[in-house]
Amino acid sequence: MAANTSLSDSNTLLAASMNKVEELLNATYTTYKLETNVNAMCMHVIQAGGKRMRPRLVLLSAHALPNYDAEQHEDNVCHIAAAIELLHTATLVHDDVIDKAPMRRGVTTLNEQDGNHAAVLAGDYLFTRCFMLLQRPSNLNIISELNSTLSKLVVGELYQLEHEGDLNLDPEIYYETIYHKTGVLFELAAAAPAIIIEGHEHLIDPLKNFGRKLGIAFQIKDDMLDYSADSAELGKDAGIDLNDQRITLPVLMALTHCSDEDKEQLLCDIKAANLEAVRDAIVSTNALEYCEEQAKKACAEAKAALSVLPESEFKSQMEALCDKAINRQH
Ligand code: IPE
Ligand code: IPE
Ligand code: MG
Ligand code: MG
Repeated sequence: MAANTSLSDSNTLLAASMNKVEELLNATYTTYKLETNVNAMCMHVIQAGGKRMRPRLVLLSAHALPNYDAEQHEDNVCHIAAAIELLHTATLVHDDVIDKAPMRRGVTTLNEQDGNHAAVLAGDYLFTRCFMLLQRPSNLNIISELNSTLSKLVVGELYQLEHEGDLNLDPEIYYETIYHKTGVLFELAAAAPAIIIEGHEHLIDPLKNFGRKLGIAFQIKDDMLDYSADSAELGKDAGIDLNDQRITLPVLMALTHCSDEDKEQLLCDIKAANLEAVRDAIVSTNALEYCEEQAKKACAEAKAALSVLPESEFKSQMEALCDKAINRQH
């Protein structure tokens, strides 16, 4: 069925499924009196929006499977899509505590609004909502995959913390970090439908590979936007990575491509978190162009991994998602 669905039909199907996912995200509310405050906190973040890239990827990947039977599987797929978005949202709430970030999705963060203590607990609560949604498909494989995703994500964040301020950072460590902190969730989103629907075992690894490469491209772009974007358009404060002494690809490229005479000064500017000077160095060394090359390379590898899927409008939209990940301004 997927192979001959037209563009407008695929958009209609996808919009209907995304509405279902939104409904599930909003159903995070419970009527238990003591949960009123924490529900309001979670809704503050969920209803602020976000790009919803991960749940969209789950839905696209389901519809792109050969002989996908929406009537039979859509309910489970939407529950997993919403669960993955809640897992992502929980990690954002915790990430903003760690990064001391004041704004997210164009609104005040929970740490800014309610304090770190309450924000950490609201993030924990979001994990419980994620696990609640995950009960519906009653599939042990997806629970186990989500569990290892979460372990890798935590390990990635810790690995990043370990290397804060490391001005000799090996680019390999950067790539390992972004795979763990971001790539793994895209990996899970892309492979989830093939994991829960029988008969697609051979597609799990290629789809994971697609998600991994897409996630890496996505994080490279995120790291570029931290130096190049306008905070209002980004919906979150730019320049935070330097403040936290997080050495990301734009800085690594600037250090690699600056002259020997400029390097000493650039190292001092990085240590002093002098954003304007570091931004200037990033521009004068064409560091963002080098980053873009790497992001495009990861995108091309992601698209190549999709060769195992039959041609369809949904597969084309998965390819288009790669372009969106690196052409976005927020
Ligand atoms: C932000 O993810 C965290 C990163 C992995 C860079 P998104 O940019 O997808 O955040 P939302 O969901 O759109 O707010
Ligand atoms: C966050 O990375 C990745 C997560 C696992 C939450 P960043 O710290 O770069 O994300 P932003 O820029 O705050 O969205
Ligand atoms: Mg952050
Ligand atoms: Mg960032």
